[in-house]
Amino acid sequence: ILAGLVRAVAEGAADPADPACAAHLHCPPLAVAVAAEVAGAALNPSMDSWDQAPAAGVVEELTTTALARLVHPEAPAPDALITSGGTESNLVALLLARERAAPAPLRVVTGANAHHSVHRAAWMLGLPALAVVLCRDGRTDPAALGRALAALDGAPALVVATAGTTDEGRIDPLPEIAEIAERYGAELHVDAAYGGPLLFSERLAPLLKGLDRAVSVTFDLHKLGWQPVAAGVLAVADTALLAPLSLRADYLNADDDTEAGLPDLLGRSIRTSRRPDALKIAATFRALGRRGLGELVEHCVTTAEEFARAVDARPALRRRPGPVGISTVLFRPVVADALGAQAGDAVVAEVRRALLL
Ligand SMILES: Cc1ncc(COP(=O)(O)O)c(C=O)c1O
Repeated sequence: ILAGLVRAVAEGAADPADPACAAHLHCPPLAVAVAAEVAGAALNPSMDSWDQAPAAGVVEELTTTALARLVHPEAPAPDALITSGGTESNLVALLLARERAAPAPLRVVTGANAHHSVHRAAWMLGLPALAVVLCRDGRTDPAALGRALAALDGAPALVVATAGTTDEGRIDPLPEIAEIAERYGAELHVDAAYGGPLLFSERLAPLLKGLDRAVSVTFDLHKLGWQPVAAGVLAVADTALLAPLSLRADYLNADDDTEAGLPDLLGRSIRTSRRPDALKIAATFRALGRRGLGELVEHCVTTAEEFARAVDARPALRRRPGPVGISTVLFRPVVADALGAQAGDAVVAEVRRALLL
């Protein structure tokens, strides 16, 4: 049964490991991460209590500590949570900000380039309608952000910027945005679900200058981190910011366990039963190191730049003007323009589907 089912899924897969596959943001996973994933599934620790995951809990703690320091190197007590991905990270970031703002309603201000999960999180948390500010060339316009914050007249606000936009790979001007948020007393969350792993590369990390000024950062390793889904992270500048997540349940973190010094894992997620996703991340870090991951990221970025040059060299293709956004190259067959919107889009759709498979 297994052979038949797996073969059927493999034969019908959009395999991101195929060199000819023009993937979405999800990546071909590293063999070491896949092996760790299999081991994790077989051992099946559940990360909601120490007594279900004693050793896996330690691995998660070491892994999140390393990631927290990568994102907030200067902070005295940075921390990070393992999440199911960018959607959950953005939700938890807005939840924590809402609790800090309470009893006043939290106002969220974001660029038109924000991922839909930011809007959905605000909807789920019952927040007032978001203020959406203009983007220029796919990046949040700092002047428009300043005007939106001024209009809030000092109400508690969270600015959500994006480092690696979903469609274009653009990075918002983080230092300017951090400056403006600070001027208006607003906090900053950066959705670096896509761009965060640029931090692994010394050459590319400066593209994320200003990231460490964010109170929280969404960072996915199942995009530019070569992990099987799920491998999400939410980094926070200070571990005390996670206090609203703490929770007591006698069967998971009894007082006597806490008094005995056993770690309390329940307060590190909005989920209860939880997969040991940190295991594959830890295996990858130990196997490749920061430098190894940085080299993979650099290779990806260089390949995208080479690909953009190849597109530019072909008169039959038209690339969207502007620089390559991390590893994203947007292009269109010129013939589609001549066919008019509807027929042209149909050609593009056919090409896109062929490239994905
Ligand atoms: C910028 C950004 N944030 C958040 C997400 C959501 O991440 P996930 O699919 O891991 O929930 C995505 C997904 O593509 C994204 O591009």
